[in-house]
Amino acid sequence: ADVSTRTRAIVAGCKHLEGPLLPILHEIQHEFGFVSQEAVPVIASELNLSRAEVHGVVTFYHDFRDHPAGRHVLKLCRAEACQSMGGEALAERAKKLLGIDWHQTTMDGAVTLEPVFCLGLCSCAPSAMLDGAVHGRVAASDLDDLIAEARQ
Ligand code: FES
Repeated sequence: ADVSTRTRAIVAGCKHLEGPLLPILHEIQHEFGFVSQEAVPVIASELNLSRAEVHGVVTFYHDFRDHPAGRHVLKLCRAEACQSMGGEALAERAKKLLGIDWHQTTMDGAVTLEPVFCLGLCSCAPSAMLDGAVHGRVAASDLDDLIAEARQ
């Protein structure tokens, strides 16, 4: 089914919920990997919201993407425990190595860089996640390895 048909079906399945927007966006992201420009107006009209309102929610929550991700998604923890253990320097290193900023994807489509707020690995800070696999005590050289792996 095309995006708008599937989106309509997802909205119909969640419409009865109180505060249906977030569950709808989660389901769409789960199915398509991102919330496309095509889905936004469909959701807006079904829920009687403006497009700007829906778009605002998509961009506010770090869980959602408004563009497709690269083949690999590297998430770096931005929460307190990791920040106190060199998370910021790690993030700067990742951005420099990849040549992108948060929420961007490398030109070759290999890696998307995203912030995440606590991976539950605070005792092993700083932490990262590559394609759903978590890594703790990430030193600069570990980060380099993760990035090299993702770029292969
Ligand atoms: Fe980074 Fe908890 S603060 S894993």
